[in-house]
Amino acid sequence: MRPVVIASCLLLLAPITDSWWASGSAVILDPRMVCKKNRRGRGRLAQICRNETGLLKEISRGVTLGATECAHQFRHRRWNCTTQRRSMRKILMRDTRETGFVNAITAAGVAFAITRACTAGSLLECSCEKGIPKSRRGRQPILPPSPVPTDRWQWGGCSDNVRFGLKKSREFMDSRYRKRSDIKTLIKLHNHNAGRLAIKNNMKVECKCHGVSGSCTLRTCWWRMPTFREVGDILRDRFEGAAKVIASNDGDNFLPESTSIKPPGKKDIIYSEESPDFCNPNIKTGSLGTQGRQCNITSAGTDSCDQLCCRRGYAQATVKETENCKCEFKWCCEVLCKTCYVKREIQTCK
Ligand SMILES: *[C@@H]1O[C@H](CO)[C@@H](O)[C@H](O)[C@H]1NC(C)=O
Ligand SMILES: *[C@@H]1O[C@H](CO)[C@@H](O)[C@H](O)[C@H]1NC(C)=O
Ligand SMILES: *[C@@H]1O[C@H](CO)[C@@H](O)[C@H](O)[C@H]1NC(C)=O
Repeated sequence: MRPVVIASCLLLLAPITDSWWASGSAVILDPRMVCKKNRRGRGRLAQICRNETGLLKEISRGVTLGATECAHQFRHRRWNCTTQRRSMRKILMRDTRETGFVNAITAAGVAFAITRACTAGSLLECSCEKGIPKSRRGRQPILPPSPVPTDRWQWGGCSDNVRFGLKKSREFMDSRYRKRSDIKTLIKLHNHNAGRLAIKNNMKVECKCHGVSGSCTLRTCWWRMPTFREVGDILRDRFEGAAKVIASNDGDNFLPESTSIKPPGKKDIIYSEESPDFCNPNIKTGSLGTQGRQCNITSAGTDSCDQLCCRRGYAQATVKETENCKCEFKWCCEVLCKTCYVKREIQTCK
């Protein structure tokens, strides 16, 4: 017993206070809670929780990154990926396509934040990959167009070490489910992986020219992750095309719900339960309803007043907003503006 007590005291002394987990109340998966339950034992997760404090900080950042991107991708929808805790907990207890998206983007966020930290040199455990990236040996990469014609290039610079980030994301997010094989767990693990693949499969090459004054006698190139916005866009597409699955007869695998549809691939988001319509508040589903949400009368998409307000109608209001106006260029080099008030009509769901 004794070593365990000492370990947790050390952790309390270390600065794992609220500054670390500043977004603690707004995160989808709370690394602090995960570690509370998994600090003991031998597994890789317990090891991360016990003594890899730098890594935990990045994991926490990654979770927040995922949550922020989720809210961005869903800002125009009835379900807007609000991080309101009680609602999100309910979403995560179900197995709808929203659950799938949240799990995918969280796993991606964790892998992304760790990889970024490796490249920045802010983690002891990893660094970027110098020279020929291991994971890419033997594969011909597609190089970006060169500004100046050149045919000589080589690997160089500092490639994003995505393998380390992906591995740590798996260890932290998947290892505690490895022994379970119920359908919900299988789906969760599949979606975590789909999220990580959105990074791995979309790595790109960046290059830099070397040579005297604007020439490009040699280019050095390295692998870079896609931006996290790109990862979010990719996963939003996967959400739109998500595949419904059912448990197989022996219960330890899943099949597409209908034999007429193509079995989902590794990159696809999957789910087993239909989503509620998210029109009205419902404690059971975690829906907050759309009353009071601002809709867009000129839009034909998910944020149109018709769709967002679930045909309940909308209220119109005039709001005053400030705007820069009557700007003048002053020699040299300033732009001076006045502040004007403009009236704008907004519509909010009844
Ligand atoms: C973490 O703990 C493991 C054993 O529990 C040890 O092998 C490893 O070196 C430790 N890592 C750090 C960074 O202290
Ligand atoms: C998201 O939806 C909730 C519930 O309808 C609402 O309170 C919140 O303001 C919305 N967030 C954004 C950014 O629109
Ligand atoms: C409303 O939707 C239209 C068409 O999609 C778009 O051009 C416009 O910027 C939107 N307005 C607001 C306030 O979001």
